[in-house]
Amino acid sequence: MNDRYLSVVRTPVGKILARGLGLPVPPRLDRWVPGSRVVDGAVVLGSAPAGRLAAAVERQLEALAVMTVAPTGLGADEQAAALVFDASGIDAVESLSALRDFFNPLLRRLGRCGRVLVLGTPPDAGAEPAAAVAQRGLEGFTRSLAKEVRAGATVQLVLVSPGAEDRLASTLAFLLSPRSAFVSGQVVRVGTGGMTGLAAPYDVEQPLGGRVALVTGAAQGIGAAISRVLHRDGATVVGLDVAARASALRALTDEFDGDALALDVTAPDAPQRIARHLIDHHGGVDVVVHNAGVTRDKRLVNMSSHGWDHVLDVNLAAPLRITEHLLDQRVVHAGGAVVGIASVAGIAGNDGQTNYATSKAGIIGLVAALAPGAADQAVSVNAVAPGFIETQMTAAIPLVIREAGRRMSSLAQGGLPVDVAEAVAWYAAPGSNAVTGTVLRVCGQSLLGA
Ligand SMILES: NC(=O)c1ccc[n+]([C@@H]2O[C@H](COP(=O)([O-])OP(=O)(O)OC[C@H]3O[C@@H](n4cnc5c(N)ncnc54)[C@H](O)[C@@H]3O)[C@@H](O)[C@H]2O)c1
Repeated sequence: MNDRYLSVVRTPVGKILARGLGLPVPPRLDRWVPGSRVVDGAVVLGSAPAGRLAAAVERQLEALAVMTVAPTGLGADEQAAALVFDASGIDAVESLSALRDFFNPLLRRLGRCGRVLVLGTPPDAGAEPAAAVAQRGLEGFTRSLAKEVRAGATVQLVLVSPGAEDRLASTLAFLLSPRSAFVSGQVVRVGTGGMTGLAAPYDVEQPLGGRVALVTGAAQGIGAAISRVLHRDGATVVGLDVAARASALRALTDEFDGDALALDVTAPDAPQRIARHLIDHHGGVDVVVHNAGVTRDKRLVNMSSHGWDHVLDVNLAAPLRITEHLLDQRVVHAGGAVVGIASVAGIAGNDGQTNYATSKAGIIGLVAALAPGAADQAVSVNAVAPGFIETQMTAAIPLVIREAGRRMSSLAQGGLPVDVAEAVAWYAAPGSNAVTGTVLRVCGQSLLGA
């Protein structure tokens, strides 16, 4: 959708006017282009004393053809494409000053759309109180720094459980590259939950090569973008949408020789029909993306029971029924991934969206409830929670609310459907299997529910 404000403030005159009036000048965000390097430029890697992650990160970045330099290794006029700091060795409040000492001299040298990663240990991983307290502090640091950096730069905290040190490749490739353009201020947990055997090597161009992916609600908007990105990354895509959208769905899957399945996810026999289709035509599935979603916005005082039931059925009951059936029947292969699409509304709440926010908070509950059992089958269960994304859904929002939604984030603009799709593709990669039971906000660090 067209963001007119963005087009105007990006002209030279518009920029001067906006600055003069104290209005935000949203940065231009780089997006991933196939064939490009994971990181274009120098990655500065530093560590607090006794960090357990820096060496593993260096090794895994080298395998991604990303070279790192020490904090003193930047050329005199060189800018850093990324700053990565291993804070896992910080085990006391006093040692947190290592964060200031590393970042303070380097922040001014971070380039446009630069990336900052802080690496730590989950505070609940059984450390002594002083270490757990210090590690928890990393979250406030990261979220604040994400609000301080400019020019499209992003900042994340990656908490790595003991034992998951060599499972970082796909997460580093996502968070350091333009694939994560609209993700900032987030805490990502890499655990040992859904791990299979040895860490899978990460193929930068075709991370999903050989995988079969089902995407519901694929005919338009975010679902179409997810389908295209999963195909671009090497997956065979089965797009699903209601019969009324069959021709749009077919037009999409014809773009990449995919498979189209016209079906309503709320049909009582939908789980069985989906399972049968996936087994008969593809021998099962590796990636299931529950993207189909609807809104019927009304304040609760005006809400009809139909408006309530329909939203809860499409957005929550159907994904739950379908996932449980596919897992029960072992239709999802070991090493597979289930990805739900939640919403920032399900975290922060939204006036006029009690039904929608209930369904989207429920998706976060689905992740928490199903991830442990699915891990026994080496299947991960995660969700993406988009903030304001430029689609037909958000184009229908009244102008003033739409404009507020766009600007109320650290990146001061709406995201694109491809931004949600890139996050889904990260969860879907075989190497991401150690990430399970988590929710990633793709919201430009929206102020809502921050
Ligand atoms: N657009 C945003 O800003 C935003 C923000 C947060 C979350 N989301 C979520 O992202 C997902 C996609 O959103 P979108 O903006 O692309 O929506 P959209 O309305 O453009 O597309 C939704 C698709 O789902 C399909 N669908 C609806 N009911 C179905 C059913 N019963 N069975 C099968 N397919 C069905 C529709 O036909 C449509 O093709 C939704 O789950 C939505 O709640 C969107």
